[in-house]
Amino acid sequence: MSNSARLPVEMRYEPKEKYLSFQRDSLEDIESFWANIARQLVWHKNWDKVLKWDPPFAQWFVGGTLNASENAVDKHVKSWRKNKAAYLWEGEAGEHRSITYRELYREVNRFASVLQHFGLRKGDTVAIYMPLVPEFPIAMLACARLGLPFTVVFSGFSAKALAERIQDCEAKIVVTADGGYRRGKILRLKSIVDDAVNESPSVKHVVVFRRTGDNVPMSEGRDHWWHDLMAKAESYVAPVPVESTHLLYILYTSGTTGKPKGVAHGTGGYLTFAYATQEWVFDAKDEDVYWCTADIGWVTGHTYLVFAPLMHGLTSVMYEGALDYPDPGRWWEIVERYGVTILYTSPTAIRSLMRYGDHLPRSHDLNSLRLLGSVGEPINPAAWQWYSDVIGQGRCPIVDTWWQTETGGIMISPSPHLGLVLLKAGSATLPLPGVDADVVDEKGQTLAPEEKGFLVVKKPWPGMFMTLYKDPERYRQVYWTRFPGLYYPGDYAMRDTDGYFWLLGRADEVIKVAGHRLGTKEVEDVLVSHPSVAEAAVAGRPDPVKGESIVAFVTLRNVANPSNDLSEELKQHVRLMIGPIATPEAIYFAKLLPKTRSGKIMRRVIKAVAAGGPIGDLSTLEDGASVDEIRQAIEALQMAEKTAKSS
Ligand code: WT7
Repeated sequence: MSNSARLPVEMRYEPKEKYLSFQRDSLEDIESFWANIARQLVWHKNWDKVLKWDPPFAQWFVGGTLNASENAVDKHVKSWRKNKAAYLWEGEAGEHRSITYRELYREVNRFASVLQHFGLRKGDTVAIYMPLVPEFPIAMLACARLGLPFTVVFSGFSAKALAERIQDCEAKIVVTADGGYRRGKILRLKSIVDDAVNESPSVKHVVVFRRTGDNVPMSEGRDHWWHDLMAKAESYVAPVPVESTHLLYILYTSGTTGKPKGVAHGTGGYLTFAYATQEWVFDAKDEDVYWCTADIGWVTGHTYLVFAPLMHGLTSVMYEGALDYPDPGRWWEIVERYGVTILYTSPTAIRSLMRYGDHLPRSHDLNSLRLLGSVGEPINPAAWQWYSDVIGQGRCPIVDTWWQTETGGIMISPSPHLGLVLLKAGSATLPLPGVDADVVDEKGQTLAPEEKGFLVVKKPWPGMFMTLYKDPERYRQVYWTRFPGLYYPGDYAMRDTDGYFWLLGRADEVIKVAGHRLGTKEVEDVLVSHPSVAEAAVAGRPDPVKGESIVAFVTLRNVANPSNDLSEELKQHVRLMIGPIATPEAIYFAKLLPKTRSGKIMRRVIKAVAAGGPIGDLSTLEDGASVDEIRQAIEALQMAEKTAKSS
C-alpha cells in the first residue's frame, strides 16, 4: 500500500476548486478540449471538423476515419502489452481462461475473417446474443473491424424481444452460443435464437459458440459452429477504416412507449468519450486489475468492459455467472483470487451482498481494492456506506457514476484521476469535464440549490448517441422537445449548496428494476395482449434490494375471474414476452382503474397506491374525472391489493 493510500480518502486528492476551474475551462472551448483527447486515438485520416452541431444532431470529428477494433487491440500488439492479459475470465463452474492482447487480436482477426466469408460488407448488421464469455467481445470487435454495426441483446431477453430487435435492425447474422450458465442451470440460448430467427427473414446465418456442450439442433446451411468456422479462418484481416460518424452499434433500451428505442452510437466520438472517462473516473493504470461486473448485454458492459478498458490496455476480470453462486461469497473470492484493484458494480448488487452480512467479505483478503464504482440507479447512503466501510475498508474512494445508454459513457461522477474530491454518500458529485449539466424547472430555467428539478445537458458531448435508429423524429421528440435546445435524459435531480448533483430517479414512465430499465407501457402492452386482460396499469414500487419492483393492476374481461392461477399465468406471460427481468412482482385484480375524463390512466395515483404512500389531493388533478369516481377506483385498487396480500 502506498503512503498516500493511508490518508483519509478526501485528503489524497486535489481540492475541488482546482477541479472546478478545469471543468469550467473545458466548457469554454469544447471543440479543442475534445480534439486534444481524440488525438490520443489511432486515426487513419484526420478530421476536417471537430463538431458539426446541427441541433439536435451532433457529428463529431467529421471527415476523420478510424477503426474501433484497431484502437482496442492492434495498438497493443505492437507494444509490450501483447503478452498482457486483456481478460481474466472465470466461468460460473470455476473454469479459468486468460486471454492476452495478442490472443485477443488473433481471435478478433479470425472471427472477422469468418464474417467476411459470409459476404458481409461494411454497413451490414449483426445481432449478438451471448453468455458472458470472451467470445462475446471477440464477436463485437470482429464486427467493428469490418465496419459492421452490431446489436447486442442481453441474454435474459425472450425470443420475442430478440426477434423484435433483430427485425428492427435487419440483422443478417446472429452470433450466439449453445447455452450459458446461471446459478448452475443451463440457459438454452440457441433454442431462443431458433424461435427468434424463425420469424426474422433477414437472418441468413447463425454462428454458435460451444459453451455448454448441450445437444442443440443445428439447421443445415443456416447454423454453423464457431469452432468449425474459426478452423478455416485467416489469421489477419485488415481493419476497415470507417468515418467517425459510422454506426458502431445499436443498443435497444426502454422508453415510455411499448417499442424499444434503438440507441445508435457512432465511432469516433463514442470511442473518444469512452477513452477519456475511463481514465478520469477509474484512474486506471497498467498494473490495475479492473473488474466491471456488468453483463455486456447492457451499455455498461459495452463501454466499460469492452471498448474503454481495451483501448487503455487494461486487464479486466470477466465473470460469467451469478453473484451468489454457489454461495454469496463468490465475488469476494474473485476479488481475492485475481487481486482486483478496481471494482465497478451496481447498487442492487451491493445491497443484495450486504444482506448476507459482513462476515463473507471479511473472510476474504480485499486489500488489493483501491477504487470502487457504482452505476445504474441511485445508491442509497446506507449501501454507499457499507460499500465504503466493509468492501473498501475506508480507504477506497467510491465513484458513483451517473450516465445512460444514450450518453455512451459516464457524465456525472467523481474523477479521482483529475483530483476530485470530497465524496458525499449518495451523490454522483460533479459533471465530468466537457459535460455541461444543469438542473432546471418546468420552464427550463436553472434552479437554485436544494431545489428539485430536471437534469439537462446544455452542450453536446462526443459520447452522445447520434439518433434513434431509423427514427430521428422520435429522437428529437423524446429528448429535445421538453426543454428546447437542452438534452433531457428523463431524470430528476437536485444540486446542493456545494454544487453537487443528487440524482433522484426517473421523471418519466421508466422504471429501474435491479438497475435494468423497463417502460411501464412496455409491460402494460404485454399484459393487455393476454386474452383475460382488459386494461393494465404498471408502476414501480420501492424495493429494498432491487431499487424498484414491478406492480401491475389489471382489470379483467368478462370471460375471466381473478385467481392465483391467473396471476401466475400473467407473470409467465410477461416472462415469455419480454424476459425474466420484466416479471411483475405482484398482480392485483382491480374492478376499475382511475382515469381522467379523457380516459388516460392516472399514473400518479397508480404509483402512489403501488408504493402504499399518500394519494395526494384529488381535487387538483388536471382533467380529472369526478373525484368520487376516482376515489372509488382507488378504493378498488387498494382492496385488490389487500385481497391479494391476504390470500
Ligand atoms: C438511467 C439510465 C448507465 C449505465 C447503466 C444504466 C439511472 C444510472 C445512475 C446513478 C442515479 C442512475 C438514471 C438514468 N442511473 N446511473 N449513478 N445514480 N441514477 O443505463 O439502462 O440507460 O439507464 O439509469 O435514471 O437515466 P440505462
